[in-house]
Amino acid sequence: MFLLVLHAGKSHALHKRVEQLCTRAIRWAQLKRKTKEKKKLAITVFSFPPDKGNVGTAAYLNVFNSIYSVLSDLKKDGYNVEGLPDTPEALIEEVIHDKEAQFNSPNLNVAYRMNVREYQYLTPYASLLEENWGKPPGHLNSDGENLLVYGKQYGNVFIGVQPTFGYEGDPMRLLFSKSASPHHGFAAYYTFVEKIFQADAVLHFGTHGSLEFMPGKQVGMSDTCYPDSLIGNIPNIYYYAANNPSEATVAKRRSYANTISYLTPPAENAGLYKGLKQLSELISSYQSLKDTGRGAQIVSSIISTAKQCNLDKDVPLPEEGEELPPKERDLIVGKVYAKIMEIESRLLPCGLHVIGEPPSAIEAVATLVNIAALDRPEEGISSLPGILAATVGRDIEDVYRGSDKGILADVELLRQITEASRGAITAFVEKTTNSKGQVVNVANNLSTILGFGLSEPWVQYLSTTKFIRADREKLRVLFGFLGECLKLVVQDNELGSLKLALEGSYVEPGPGGDPIRNPKVLPTGKNIHALDPQAIPTAAALKSAKIVVDRLLERQKADNGGKYPETVALVLWGTDNIKTYGESLAQVLWMIGVRPVADTFGRVNRVEPVSLEELGRPRIDVVVNCSGVFRDLFINQMNLLDRAVKMVAELDEPVEMNYVRKHAQEQAEELGVSLREAATRVFSNASGSYSSNVNLAVENASWTDEKQLQDMYLSRKSFAFDSDAPGAGMKEKRKAFELALATADATFQNLDSSEISLTDVSHYFDSDPTKLVQGLRKDGRDEAAQPQVVRGDDEEWVRGSQGDREAAHKHCRVERNIRTGGQLGLRGGQFHVHRR
Ligand code: BEZ
Ligand code: MG
Repeated sequence: MFLLVLHAGKSHALHKRVEQLCTRAIRWAQLKRKTKEKKKLAITVFSFPPDKGNVGTAAYLNVFNSIYSVLSDLKKDGYNVEGLPDTPEALIEEVIHDKEAQFNSPNLNVAYRMNVREYQYLTPYASLLEENWGKPPGHLNSDGENLLVYGKQYGNVFIGVQPTFGYEGDPMRLLFSKSASPHHGFAAYYTFVEKIFQADAVLHFGTHGSLEFMPGKQVGMSDTCYPDSLIGNIPNIYYYAANNPSEATVAKRRSYANTISYLTPPAENAGLYKGLKQLSELISSYQSLKDTGRGAQIVSSIISTAKQCNLDKDVPLPEEGEELPPKERDLIVGKVYAKIMEIESRLLPCGLHVIGEPPSAIEAVATLVNIAALDRPEEGISSLPGILAATVGRDIEDVYRGSDKGILADVELLRQITEASRGAITAFVEKTTNSKGQVVNVANNLSTILGFGLSEPWVQYLSTTKFIRADREKLRVLFGFLGECLKLVVQDNELGSLKLALEGSYVEPGPGGDPIRNPKVLPTGKNIHALDPQAIPTAAALKSAKIVVDRLLERQKADNGGKYPETVALVLWGTDNIKTYGESLAQVLWMIGVRPVADTFGRVNRVEPVSLEELGRPRIDVVVNCSGVFRDLFINQMNLLDRAVKMVAELDEPVEMNYVRKHAQEQAEELGVSLREAATRVFSNASGSYSSNVNLAVENASWTDEKQLQDMYLSRKSFAFDSDAPGAGMKEKRKAFELALATADATFQNLDSSEISLTDVSHYFDSDPTKLVQGLRKDGRDEAAQPQVVRGDDEEWVRGSQGDREAAHKHCRVERNIRTGGQLGLRGGQFHVHRR
């Protein structure tokens, strides 16, 4: 009888769940039926980080101009957007009254006051929130009596402000907590949208909000997971930056979003200014005057100017006035020159993207130059720098290497190649542009251009340079491809796809990522997908991971009197593993000396040890710090890593050749557990929780002592994955985490992108355990813990999985984050290192 009741209870719950899921599907289907005029849309903007005048901001996006553009378009299409003001500025004014609005400012327009009874009646899960937030209404989104929904309605469109996580209410408690539920104001917002405004769809506007990061299961939500409760049955459409497939995937899995990708803003080369410009002029005069007896004097000015520009942090420079033989002078000038060329050609995003306003052709030039810089052998496309180098009898890889070493002639040649690439592409783009600078009819113009060999604009341009004999056929193939890319860059599908989604129609999916590396990301307006997690790491990722790891270890060894580091603490993110097909995953495997093995279907689900003879070095121990996003997307790969670590710890090998085993034995003794259990190295947040929150604490200035930040990292990131406990989720193992981190000699994160770098995103210092390691190490050598930037300039640089390594290499640069005082990194598969 008891069993029967239990069974009936279960099947009732299942029935209810199936009904919920069906209702959501029906709501999507209803979008097809309802007329545009009657359809209700809740546009939701964010305020993140809170309290900083950030209402209506999103990564790379001009949110209000975009909303304005979307609403103008929808209005034309027959939607009821009654009362939409005449300008985007007026729209901002009406919704938030003040561009600099603090989040809780009374300035935000109140769209609805929900009394507590109504809130409780309409929000079935409201009582569950009391554990963290007390009785409603609470302090957030509240006037003390009612819950407040901020926003404004125009006809059938509501523009609302998503409440914040609420950390600002009690940062010291909430930032530390392993996982906190949404607050009452947050819940009230979505209750309003679904049950009072009765939206047919919600449009989350830009990357990204907080709903999908609320506690709950990683995937396959149940009705007790907060993202599920909050989104209810409303069809969720989400404008998301094309270059963020990892978090877009979280939005899809945890809040059932139909994402629509938007373009990141056009990039421009950083260029040179002030001292750097002066340096480049000095270098030119050195090149023309070095044999006239003035060489020594100019070099001395170059050295002092370079020091003023702080380049001595990146390029080793002699004392000013030191006597140098001419060959050495050339080398120093060459190294400074290579550095400033690298700075000059760094890509910077310019301004913010507006939905429905694709870039002009000229704005697309820098992007095309970078697209053209990569060889794409699988498509038979040679890189433009490669084609140009060949005309002067050189291999471009050789020129890159020479330039990196500071060989003056190679730096100069590379500069000429870069200049010619830009010139040729600009000439091509100008031919496809109308008088307003917009790209018009690329397709038609392109066929005209391609039809007449002689008038090919790039050929015309190159005939004025030393690269006049460049291979015409290869150029044609390349520019044909660039023409396709240009068409895709300027295509505007972002509005079109939104309209499809609002009609319940199919939005074409496509990969997310960096359009330079993977032009298939274009045109935007796609429903973003990531990749098959079991397909990684690919063979190409493995190849490139080996090179980075070998170089890191060799360099560390050279810097440490011939001793290999015993442990490297690595940070694994979802984003770069998606974009590189698992390079950083492969790096971890190669550190400990194992090889992934694919089954007959190509699924990577096994590892085998590489013999010590083949490895030629000890197995290096690791501490793997996975982002919450990585955990969500790649749980099977965490399983693979954990099995690999345990397997290595159990290998019967001398401990001086197997540091995983060495440390696991020590830790087993200290913790009183088995060797296998002590070999716990794969950590992340608690299930359903993300980030260390160090970035938020720094941004809110809610810390006084660095120790607090380290505690925060430890309390949130010390959850271990255990392949021996399938299905158990993440388990807190703080002591094991601390012991493992205390053995770390270096910390490392693979930075994959030519678009984002260390100081662009606060998440980098949020994930980086460098300072923590310093605090945990028993030798406590603070002054020696100055992070070191390691870069193996003098060795061969090999391309990554898709030719990207080479691009990343050219963009590599050192960056320092002053606020946290300890972050250094080098772009493009480089690393920051903490030394004994
Ligand atoms: C990730 O892709 O893992 C990630 C994304 C944003 C912040 C931190 C991590
Ligand atoms: Mg994020």
